[in-house]
Amino acid sequence: MPHYLGIDVGTSAVKSILVDERQATIAEADIPLQISRPYDLWSEQHPDAWWQAVQAAMDQLRMKVPGILADVRGIGLSGQMHGAVLLASDNTPLRPAILWNDGRSFREAQELGARHPELAPITGVIPMPGFTAPKLLWLARHEPETFRCVSKVILPKDYIRLKLTGDLVTDMSDAAGTWWLDEARRDWSDEALAATGLRCDHMASLVEGSQASGTVRAEIARRWGLRPDVVVAGGAGDAAAGAVGLGAIEDGSAFISLGTSGQLFVTTETFSPTPEAVVHSFCHAVPGRWFQMAAMLNGASCLSWAAHLLKRDIGELLRETEAAYKGPSSLLFLPYLMGERTPHNDPYARGVFFGLTPETRQTDLVQAVLEGVAFSFADAKRALAQAGTALTHAGLIGGGSKSAFWARTFANALNVPIVRYRGSDKGPAFGAARLARLAITGEAPDKVCTPPDVLETIAPENPLVDLYEAQVEAFRNLYQALKPEFARAL
Ligand code: XUL
Repeated sequence: MPHYLGIDVGTSAVKSILVDERQATIAEADIPLQISRPYDLWSEQHPDAWWQAVQAAMDQLRMKVPGILADVRGIGLSGQMHGAVLLASDNTPLRPAILWNDGRSFREAQELGARHPELAPITGVIPMPGFTAPKLLWLARHEPETFRCVSKVILPKDYIRLKLTGDLVTDMSDAAGTWWLDEARRDWSDEALAATGLRCDHMASLVEGSQASGTVRAEIARRWGLRPDVVVAGGAGDAAAGAVGLGAIEDGSAFISLGTSGQLFVTTETFSPTPEAVVHSFCHAVPGRWFQMAAMLNGASCLSWAAHLLKRDIGELLRETEAAYKGPSSLLFLPYLMGERTPHNDPYARGVFFGLTPETRQTDLVQAVLEGVAFSFADAKRALAQAGTALTHAGLIGGGSKSAFWARTFANALNVPIVRYRGSDKGPAFGAARLARLAITGEAPDKVCTPPDVLETIAPENPLVDLYEAQVEAFRNLYQALKPEFARAL
């Protein structure tokens, strides 16, 4: 039976998933990754660490299901978006990749926006330090010798494609996050590239996520026990790949992804940019679709951070916090450990607990963390409303969706029903496997990209909704009061 492989190059792990023709998951492998933060605002990973993790994940899969890799017809790639992988003319990395949550190019992003206000409605979003283009301006200014040697700039998952196939190709949804794509035309923008001193030939060639991009090299096929003709599909940036995994490819389908980062994502059938709301309007992974997205830099990673500091198991902490719950916490938590993109565009913002007393317990801290992340999504909902998209309900995917208690906090803080699915933590890797299948079979995307079974729909509850509305207001005021201090502190 034909099988499809999805590989997601995340920030905290590489995940591979093997899916059969009935879309059942046959095996999964997870290899953790580390981030290096040598200076304030910096966040880097070496592309070769991704490749080593992918190989380790494949070794794990081979051990779990010996022989089945010979049935794989296609591989789909997904990955953390926006990272700058800088290649020399021999296609080797010139330096560690500068990641999506790296804030060092804030000044360059501001300059780019001021010099080229006409480009945001074309590239779908104002320039922000997370995106690839401002990082290249930073490089030209701070590491000019490296900049001069840059032959190609590619995205994280496309480095794995290079290793697998030898080809320099990207897909529309990942290219969308560089700030160099003309989103409406689904092609590179010469003007946006020129604004950062680059040309089209510095970029990879473009395919749709559901199209073939190349074939696995013979040496890799031999090493992994694959057939010699395995196709690698365009794939997608992790946000769009998550949407494909969830079947969110029709106009208006909305979901929240609660992984390391967080997104509120709505599929659209037209390109509808609203850069002033700090909303991202990007190409989707299937042809003829776009999406609007509020992108938050701090998702379930805030809970992992708290559990790590408290030296406690996340599951236990969640159980205890739910048992102690009596309503919204009087403690506020600003979740901006990595700065924030939507709606603040503020790399200097930092995490804050506000309202500590001698009575504050561990469970209060954890509740405040869960609520603070949910409140940042209330801001995301407001940004999307400004962009003309009213949120009436949302699916919840990603690691954070495993907690029904957290989902309930989201329902009450956002005042919308939240839908939880069975197996929704498979996420982007599963979406990538679906794109591989589409590239091989040519089936209609809506036949393959169906939603998973609903586990439960959590309705907002009164009077909690009103109580949370007041807390969200206090949360917003706290950020506004501290904003000048954040900038001063760095
Ligand atoms: C989306 C974003 C993150 C990364 C990391 O804009 O920056 O979701 O893709 O996963």
